[in-house]
Amino acid sequence: MHTAHLFLALILTKTACGLSPTVVHEKRVAHPSLLHSRRLEGHVAVPLKVGLKQQNTDHLATHLLSVSDPQSPYFGQHWSAEKVAQVFAPGNESRDAVTAWLIGAGFDEERLRISHNKAWVHVENATVDEVEALLATEYHVYQHESGEEHAACDSYSLPAHIAHHIEIITPTVQPNIKLGSSSTRPAKRSGPQRKRTAAPVLPLPLPAGCDQAITPACIRSLYNVTYVPKATDRNSFGIVSQAPATYLQSDLDTFFANFSPSLVGKSPLFVSIDGGIVDAVEGTDIGEGDWILEYAMALVEPQPVTMLQVGTLITGNFLSFNEWLDAVDGSYCTSDGGDDLTYDPQFPNLPIGDFQEHSCGTVKPPLVISNSRADFEYRLSPFYTQRQCNEFAKLGLMGVTVLFSAGNAGAAGTTRGYCLDDNGSVNLNATHFNPGWPAACPWITSVGGTQVKANVNASDLASATGVAQAREEVWNQDLTHGFFESSGGGFSNRFPMPQYQKAAVGSFLEKLKRTNPEQLKHFNPRGRAYPDISANANNFVNVENGTFELDSGTSGATPTVASLITLVNDARLAAGKSPVGFINPTIYSPDFAGAFNDIVSGTSQGCKGWQGDRGGGFQAVPGWDAASGVGTPNLGVLIEKWLALP
Ligand SMILES: *[C@@H]1O[C@H](CO)[C@@H](O)[C@H](O)[C@H]1NC(C)=O
Ligand SMILES: *[C@@H]1O[C@H](CO)[C@@H](O)[C@H](O)[C@H]1NC(C)=O
Ligand SMILES: *[C@@H]1O[C@H](CO)[C@@H](O)[C@H](O)[C@H]1NC(C)=O
Ligand SMILES: *[C@@H]1O[C@H](CO)[C@@H](O)[C@H](O)[C@H]1NC(C)=O
Ligand SMILES: *[C@@H]1O[C@H](CO)[C@@H](O)[C@H](O)[C@H]1NC(C)=O
Ligand SMILES: *[C@@H]1O[C@H](CO)[C@@H](O)[C@H](O)[C@H]1NC(C)=O
Ligand SMILES: *[C@@H]1O[C@H](CO)[C@@H](O)[C@H](O)[C@H]1NC(C)=O
Repeated sequence: MHTAHLFLALILTKTACGLSPTVVHEKRVAHPSLLHSRRLEGHVAVPLKVGLKQQNTDHLATHLLSVSDPQSPYFGQHWSAEKVAQVFAPGNESRDAVTAWLIGAGFDEERLRISHNKAWVHVENATVDEVEALLATEYHVYQHESGEEHAACDSYSLPAHIAHHIEIITPTVQPNIKLGSSSTRPAKRSGPQRKRTAAPVLPLPLPAGCDQAITPACIRSLYNVTYVPKATDRNSFGIVSQAPATYLQSDLDTFFANFSPSLVGKSPLFVSIDGGIVDAVEGTDIGEGDWILEYAMALVEPQPVTMLQVGTLITGNFLSFNEWLDAVDGSYCTSDGGDDLTYDPQFPNLPIGDFQEHSCGTVKPPLVISNSRADFEYRLSPFYTQRQCNEFAKLGLMGVTVLFSAGNAGAAGTTRGYCLDDNGSVNLNATHFNPGWPAACPWITSVGGTQVKANVNASDLASATGVAQAREEVWNQDLTHGFFESSGGGFSNRFPMPQYQKAAVGSFLEKLKRTNPEQLKHFNPRGRAYPDISANANNFVNVENGTFELDSGTSGATPTVASLITLVNDARLAAGKSPVGFINPTIYSPDFAGAFNDIVSGTSQGCKGWQGDRGGGFQAVPGWDAASGVGTPNLGVLIEKWLALP
């Protein structure tokens, strides 16, 4: 029956092909630091996967809001992973049309496999020659400025009658397909939202003021954290980490001995994704992992923290969030059904090399997932960002809170102030703000940065009732030599503004019209606006390889907010309620306004091409703003308000 069916489809497809023009399906967005180099050899194997268009994604936002809007009668009634997979799985007609197209193009039926979740058609043993003919494209090997190479095509085309069945084809225009394995560390990563100060060794005892050095005690004072977890058996909290980052137990112990003695000897729960390892070996980077785990573990103690460690090295300047998404949601990738582990990961290496296993649905998603890395929206194709953003929405439907750093580059694209031109190219003269990713996705919670104002001391913090907003301002630090770092914030060029933030952002835009109308020309005021929330990003005390240092960045703000949401979940679970899940509709709701310290001073950095170094970024104002979101959390009040919800 199957054969006959495919035979019929083959004939129809041939006829249709004759009539059907081809359309460009995806285009690669050029990056200035990539040097075009050479054609990829025709015999190289391509682990070709065709992602079928899912059903019902038009209704994804409606479903998500029905379980996460505090006004909804279904608030907190999250879906099971099975229900999510079933509702959005591609329809049979997409599968049939795509297999017929592939067979018509000369791929034997035996070479085609449908993934377990029905979302992908795999083509086994495809070569560059075959795929170039199929997709009317050419594969090139690109050299990154770091010297690393990766393969990609600039665009690819599909017959018009097939295109609407297909969401994405990999590997094609995605920027992070690594060629071979390089043992050298990536020269430069945009990922970790962290900086290290020049003077590494701190005197002990530390400076008294939280304006000079942040400790867990400072965070507790700033954000009214007195809650002690009591539902740790039901709660969970995950931190995503990606090789070459990891941590040193001796650093955690030194930190805990000073700031959280009962944690000495305690480690995070460790989950390996795609071969992730815990050991610090030559070439690994412990600074970021130490820092994040020290604060997350101290703030939620005794709640265990899970480290989701992705094993594949970050390639050149690019990041993939799909590996951990594949691991926490098997429906996002292809699972069993005869996985070919050599080919299977979402963005495999060409030729095959670096890893042994592809983690697919191997991890139950923790209730809160914190990721301190960030990229830029323009660097990823629209299909790619849409698909990933949908997946974040699905995690929200399942009751998972996903938090990402808003980046350290203010409204610009790098800490030097690169922005976007009208034609989408990136350079120092460009004047359009350069939104971050995944901050630009409306279905995650984006975390911006603040800093404690100069001369605010510990006793100020302890007695700060009612003056909370006077203690913090927008994080913005001059690193000299033309580099500066500040809270990420801005507006998506692709994703429209979601309903939940229209009132808050609308009132910000109204103020801007009166105070700085010129700025409105430099971003898309109808786009998804971020950050949603913020927390301190400046001068965290960290132990790195035995030495006390100060680290800054939204890398620290993100796990800080994630830790406090984990404590809110604890309170709700202990009261027999559901976890908070996707929090944005709640934190923007008028009822929650009193649960944040409103940040009303400071400015983020803008484009160098418009108003020069540090000029032209977003100014914090009363209410929501594009530098600090709704403000920094007041945990005690947040717990009261979230306990009042069903
Ligand atoms: C889709 O195809 C499968 C077999 O491949 C079949 O079991 C299922 O009933 C079909 N679903 C619909 C809605 O036709
Ligand atoms: C793919 O190639 C491998 C190794 O060359 C071979 O063992 C396998 O049978 C091939 N699969 C198909 C479906 O051709
Ligand atoms: C984009 O526009 C800028 C001027 O704003 C120009 O210098 C650049 O060459 C253009 N790039 C492309 C790829 O068209
Ligand atoms: C930026 O502007 C300067 C001065 O106008 C010019 O020399 C330079 O070539 C421009 N750079 C780009 C990338 O357009
Ligand atoms: C803290 O600062 C306040 C002024 O903001 C000052 O009155 C107080 O003496 C300071 N306390 C300490 C311990 O330095
Ligand atoms: C820690 O420092 C020592 C001595 O400088 C060095 O040999 C070692 O590689 C460092 N360890 C890590 C994990 O960076
Ligand atoms: C801190 O939280 C408690 C509830 O735990 C609340 O009663 C108190 O008012 C909060 N403090 C401030 C300064 O908002």
